[in-house]
Formats: sequence, C-alpha cells, structure tokens
Amino acid sequence: MKLLKRLSEAFGGSGHEEEVAELVAAELKPLCGKVSTDTLGNVIGVKRGKGRQAGRKRIMLAAHMDEIGFIVSHIDDKGFLRVHPAGGFDPRTLMAQRVTVLGKGTHRLTGLLNVAGKPIHLQTSEDRKKDLRVGSFFVDLGLPAETVKKKAEIGDRVIWQRGFTRMGDCVTGKALDDRIGVYVMIEALRAVEGNRHDIYAVGTVQEEVGLRGALTSAYEIAPDIAIALDVTLAVDTPDAEAQSRVTELGKGVALKIMDSSSISDAKLVREFRALAEEHEIPYQLEILPRGGTDAGGMQRVRGGARVITLSIPVRYVHSVNETAHKDDVQAAIDLLAVYLSQ
Ligand code: CO
Ligand code: ZN
Repeated sequence: MKLLKRLSEAFGGSGHEEEVAELVAAELKPLCGKVSTDTLGNVIGVKRGKGRQAGRKRIMLAAHMDEIGFIVSHIDDKGFLRVHPAGGFDPRTLMAQRVTVLGKGTHRLTGLLNVAGKPIHLQTSEDRKKDLRVGSFFVDLGLPAETVKKKAEIGDRVIWQRGFTRMGDCVTGKALDDRIGVYVMIEALRAVEGNRHDIYAVGTVQEEVGLRGALTSAYEIAPDIAIALDVTLAVDTPDAEAQSRVTELGKGVALKIMDSSSISDAKLVREFRALAEEHEIPYQLEILPRGGTDAGGMQRVRGGARVITLSIPVRYVHSVNETAHKDDVQAAIDLLAVYLSQ
C-alpha cells in the first residue's frame, strides 16, 4: 500500500491535480500502451484489447484525482488568510486542522485553520450559540503580514495535512476520496490478463466541483461501458440507524444501484454481481441518497453510456480521517480485474 500512501499524501485540490497526475501517469505507463493528458488535465491510459477490432467494446474507468480543498480569497492586514471552499466541507471537520498552502503556486507553507472569534475561555453563552460556517475559518501562517504578502496571494491553493497510516484492519488518511479509487484502478489494471476489449483508464480532474473532468474525457473516449471507481459512505458507526448505513466497512466492495448523479445500468449490476458470486468476492449493494460520482458525467455524453460505480466503503468521508477496510479495497481490485480480464 506504499502507492496508496503516496497518492493520499499528494497535493491535489480540484483544478490543481498536477502532482497526483504525475504519479498516475508514471504508474499507468508500464501498464498501458499509451498515456496522455488532455486539456483539462485528465490522465488517460489506453490498454488495447486482444479481440477483433469489430467486436471490441470501449470500456472507460474513471477515478478522480482531485480532493476537496480551498482557494485563498483574501489576505488581511495582519497576514491572516481567508479561504473559499472548492468541494463540500462539514465545518466541524475543520476545527484545529493543519493545512498546506501552495504559496504563489510554488512554495509550500504550513498553516493552521482556526475559526474567527474568541477562545473557549472567553466565550459568552451567546458566542457559543453562533453557527459554525466554513466561511468563519481563517489560516494562520505564523508569519508577519509583509512576509505573508511576499509568499502568498489570492488564488493560492490550500489542502489539509494528514499523514496516511494503517490502523487495525484499515487504512486512514486524507483524500482517500478518491485516491483509493485511483489506487484500485491502477492495481486492477496490473492484474488484468488477456482483455478482449479496449480499456481506457482515466484519472479525472475536478470531480468534487461537479464531475467536470469525467464529462470531457468521456466525450473524447465515447465509451460503450463506463465504470466509476469512488468511495461511498460507510455509516456503520455509533448512533447511525440500520436503514441509513449505506454500506458497512469490511463487508466487501459496494455495487452502486443509484445515487443522486446516476442510476447504474441494471444489466451491469447483474453482471458484476454474478462475477462476484462466481469468484467468491465479497460485495454489498449500495444506494446513496445524496452525492454522486463520475458515472453521472460519463453517462450523459453523446448518445449516453452504460455506467456503474464500484464503491469502496469509507468512514468519515470528507474529513482528514477517511478510513477504509483493507479487505474492501482488495475486493474492489479483484472484482474489477476479473471483469476487465474477460
Ligand atoms: Co468526495
Ligand atoms: Zn469521490
């Protein structure tokens, strides 16, 4: 899982995926005949099928390289940065976090996210009732204002800092959404043998702000079948009701039935289910009431594509503690590899 650690710790807010893209391109090169990067920054590896040209399908895989992050929107007289979110944050996950600021687009600065206002010791009961909003946070770089203005500017990218680690039967870190999907895509491709159809493996950009990279790359590729690889919610934690668990950690790869961006092709769901059963790969069925994946983008280009999402169950999605079970990651790799090897 060394590769997953590198992917997780890489810097890659939406629209600034270059560091992740470099890693993905380097991994895809030995696995694909051709690797290219398109205008938006999607990395596309093509592994040609062995079948006769006429009968070959175009199968597109998409795993997004971007993570949720911020963009510096204002620098005040004291040198504190205000930030604008790029992606969906729960403000409670921002308390007391360290961040990396890519100052003037090149040098890395460590900063602290804090909420504007008084420390707990000085708060009145009125202060405590105030709503916590993402917009209430600022970044302290520990530098005087003049130095901050030399090193940072409006438009600089900010992501949070968190080292990747193993924990029990799990792995945990930032940006498992969706570096774990990227990892599954690469590892499955490594395991593929004798594919009849053409496989287009795409590390997509800007998923977290609206499935943008998936749309343009799918338009170019024009897939017959498109498979998104992404995380889904595992709400198997205290005080969650059984009917709103979505998935559970350690119960296998999740075959998505639907979410708010797409309804999976029913025949593909049946096909993946049958393969999982035949190869004894643990799986679960998933319905996500809110949220989407690149499948929603890929489904809607040109005349449409048959789509499905293979999801990796993750606890604490969109926090620095995104956590996945190792067996679920393996199940996702195994199922994708057997599907592609047909
Ligand atoms: Co996400
Ligand atoms: Zn995602």
